[in-house]
Amino acid sequence: MTAVGVIGATGLVGGEMLRILEERNFPVSQLRAYASPRSEGRVLATKWGDVACEVLRDGCFDGLDLVIVDVDDPLALEWAPHAAAAGATVVDNSAAFRMDPDVPLVVPEANPHDVHNAPKGIISCPNCTTIVLVTALAPLHREFGIERLVVATYQSVSGAGKPGMEELSEQWTKFDGGAEQLRRAAATPGVIEPGEVWDRPIAGNAIPLAGSVKEHGYTSEELKLVRETRKILHDESLRITATNARVPVYVGHSMAVNIEFRRPAAKAAVVELLAAAPGVALADGGDGHPSALEGAGIDPVLVGRVREDQSNPGGIDCWVTGDNLRKGAALNAVQIAELVIR
Ligand SMILES: NC(=O)c1ccc[n+]([C@@H]2O[C@H](COP(=O)([O-])OP(=O)(O)OC[C@H]3O[C@@H](n4cnc5c(N)ncnc54)[C@H](OP(=O)(O)O)[C@@H]3O)[C@@H](O)[C@H]2O)c1
Repeated sequence: MTAVGVIGATGLVGGEMLRILEERNFPVSQLRAYASPRSEGRVLATKWGDVACEVLRDGCFDGLDLVIVDVDDPLALEWAPHAAAAGATVVDNSAAFRMDPDVPLVVPEANPHDVHNAPKGIISCPNCTTIVLVTALAPLHREFGIERLVVATYQSVSGAGKPGMEELSEQWTKFDGGAEQLRRAAATPGVIEPGEVWDRPIAGNAIPLAGSVKEHGYTSEELKLVRETRKILHDESLRITATNARVPVYVGHSMAVNIEFRRPAAKAAVVELLAAAPGVALADGGDGHPSALEGAGIDPVLVGRVREDQSNPGGIDCWVTGDNLRKGAALNAVQIAELVIR
C-alpha cells in the first residue's frame, strides 16, 4: 500500500488524478491533498474517505511514499525537491524538470524502463501534446525509425488549466455560442474582447500560437514537443517541426502528423502495428476520422486518417487525438506510479 500526496488536487489535472487513482484501484493507504490557501480546508470526497486540502509548508510530505505534482512550474520547482527529500518518489506533471538530465521523462508505452533511473527521486511527465503524440508514434519508431516529423496541433483550452476553460465558457455564454458576433468578429472590432489567457477571443476562433514565442519564432509549446519527443525516444537526431494552435475545444488535443521514416513504411504495416499498440485505438482500421470529443474522457489515444504520403514514398500521414487531462497528464502519471511501485 502507498501513502500518496497530490499537490494541486483541486485543479483540472489534480481532479482527474483523483478519479484515475480510484478507477485503477491504486493501492492507497493514505491520501493527502494540497492546494492554494484559497482552498485550505476544502473537503474532497474520495473512495478513501473525505480529504481536507492542506497548504504547502515545511514537513507537509512527511510519511508519504508518492507525491504527484499538478501545479505550475515555479511551485513544482520549489516543492518537488522537498517531497523527494522527505523520501517520496515524485511524479511531476509540470515542465519544471522535464529537460533535467537527471530526471527521466516517461511515457510508459514508449520508455517504461527509464523510471528506474531517477537519481533525484523525481520522474517527469511530458507535455500533454507530446504524450498523445509519442503514445501513437512509439511503436512506429521502434519498427521503422522516424527520420522527420511535421506536426500541426489543435489544442483544447483545458490545456491552459481552469482559467482556460473559464475563458472559453464566458465567451460562449456571452454570445450564446452562435451569435453573429462570433461568426464575424473581425468585422466588428471590440465586440468580443480578449480575455486574460489569450490575446484574442478563443470562442469561435483558431489561434495559431499556443504558448509564448521563443527562439526562431517557435513557441514554448512547439519547442516542448520537439525537445521532449527526442528525449523520450532517446534520439537527438530526430528532425521535428511543429505549429501548435489553440482551438475552442474544451478537452482533447488533436494533431495532424506527417512522418518520414528511415525504412519505408506501408500503410498496411503501420495499421497492423497501431492495432496492436498499447494505449492506442485505431478508428475504423485507420480510415476513420476520430474527433477530439470522441477521444475525450477515455484512456487510449485515437488514430485515424492513416494515409501513405503521396509526396514522399514510404512516409505516412495520420491524425492523432487524445484527452490532454487523462493520457496527456493524469493517466500517464498514474501509469508511471504503477511502474514505480510494481
Ligand atoms: N491542463 C492540462 O492539459 C495539462 C496537461 C499536462 C500537464 N499540465 C500541467 O499540470 C499542472 C497543473 O495544471 P492544471 O491544468 O491542472 O492547472 P489548474 O487547473 O489551473 O490547477 C492549478 C492547481 O494549482 C493549485 N495551486 C495554485 N497555487 C497554489 C499554491 N500556492 N499552493 C498549492 N497549490 C496551488 C490550485 O489550487 P486552487 O484550486 O486552490 O487554486 C490548483 O489545484 C501545470 O504544471 C500544467 O502545466 C496540464
